[in-house]
Amino acid sequence: MDNFEYYNPTKIIFGKGTEAQVGAETAHCGRKILLHYGGGSIKKSGLYDRVIRALKERGIKWVELGGAQPNPRLSLVRTGIEMCRKEEVDCILAVGGGSVIDSAKAIAMGVPYAGDVWDFFVGKAEVKAALPLGVVLTFPAAGSENSTGTVITNEDEWFKRSAGSPLLRPKFAILNPELSYTLPAYQTACGVADMMAHIFERYFSKTEDVDLTDRLSEATLKTIIKHAGILMKEPAHYAARAEIMWAGTLAHNGLLDTGRASDWATHAMEHELSALYDIAHGAGLALLFPSWMRYVYPVFPAKFMQFFERVWDVEPDYVHPDRMIAEGIDRLKTFYRSLGLPLSFQEAKLPVTDLDEMAEKCTRGGPIGSFKTLYKEDVLAIYRMASSLHA
Ligand code: NZQ
Ligand code: ZN
Repeated sequence: MDNFEYYNPTKIIFGKGTEAQVGAETAHCGRKILLHYGGGSIKKSGLYDRVIRALKERGIKWVELGGAQPNPRLSLVRTGIEMCRKEEVDCILAVGGGSVIDSAKAIAMGVPYAGDVWDFFVGKAEVKAALPLGVVLTFPAAGSENSTGTVITNEDEWFKRSAGSPLLRPKFAILNPELSYTLPAYQTACGVADMMAHIFERYFSKTEDVDLTDRLSEATLKTIIKHAGILMKEPAHYAARAEIMWAGTLAHNGLLDTGRASDWATHAMEHELSALYDIAHGAGLALLFPSWMRYVYPVFPAKFMQFFERVWDVEPDYVHPDRMIAEGIDRLKTFYRSLGLPLSFQEAKLPVTDLDEMAEKCTRGGPIGSFKTLYKEDVLAIYRMASSLHA
């Protein structure tokens, strides 16, 4: 186990009706806020009205900016930064899914910075200050409600890049599982694939002696697998929504990193897909992960054998590790299929004409991954494996 520091000051407020506390929590952060949201789901569900009521009750002033899109855009972030400066906003409240929260985080770090906010995403600047941020989560998936990161798409060249800082962890995150009842089944599935991927990126590590971190990861994955199945049949099942929402936060708040190196190559490869084709992030991950696993497992087959035995109940086969791992990957694919997720470029109706360009963009800053270091040719090979349904 490697040395580590774990500092996670976000206050989590979890459970039914907890959005009623948003006024009181926001009052600790600021007196004039930017209320940031997406394309309208919060207006349709009535959550917007409840949030406004709670803000009014506490005498909090607000300006608002809707329109954060899935795969949130840099142009709206720049608009938000200008708005916050002009209106002298001292706190941001994000109400929505990962895209809204990421957009809010980018605005929060852009306001006190004299240069262009994109500098943070291309390694030209480090976050030294950020406005405080609060969250009401409507979509368990990205884990942004308790993570240090933000992912933004620059429409100029369709680059999707991340930036991070401990200063971006929200001050509070309100997690009411009931708010996720209105998610379409496909979005629920994409969220499940994303939170599972956040654990895969951490679990597939060459660092040894991380038994507790491994077992916490396995328990979280088993919980997600079980309750995702329930949600496909009963979308308003509170207990299942609650398990999924909490698992999504734990999957990406740093706890499951502790003591080991993590990988993140598949996320980097996926960000090229969602930047270019605007595909849902979780769907992109589902179609890439089985191919990534097939490509990299020979580096450390024992880790994959442990994973497939403990999480997917595959009978151990020490004589034929390849067979055992192939069986495990098939079970993962069968699970994705049961959620209605695409398993290839072909199934996701994505073209295969841009694989070379994506592999080049993905590795422009150097090779990716730590479980196995991937160069452009490796990334291209994985994209090719994922391109055909029968690969
Ligand atoms: O925009 P609205 O109208 O709110 O609709 C959204 C959006 O169309 C809808 N939605 C959200 N909550 C809903 C709902 N519809 C009905 N009922 C509800 N309760 O769902 C659609 C997708 O929302 P989005 O926020 O885009 O999804 P998600 O939470 O999966 O976020 C994806 C983004 O997060 C990034 C991804 O790359 C992607 O851009 N990530 C951020 C990370 C982070 N900051 O730590 C890590 C992740 O790995 C990920 O990369
Ligand atoms: Zn993700």
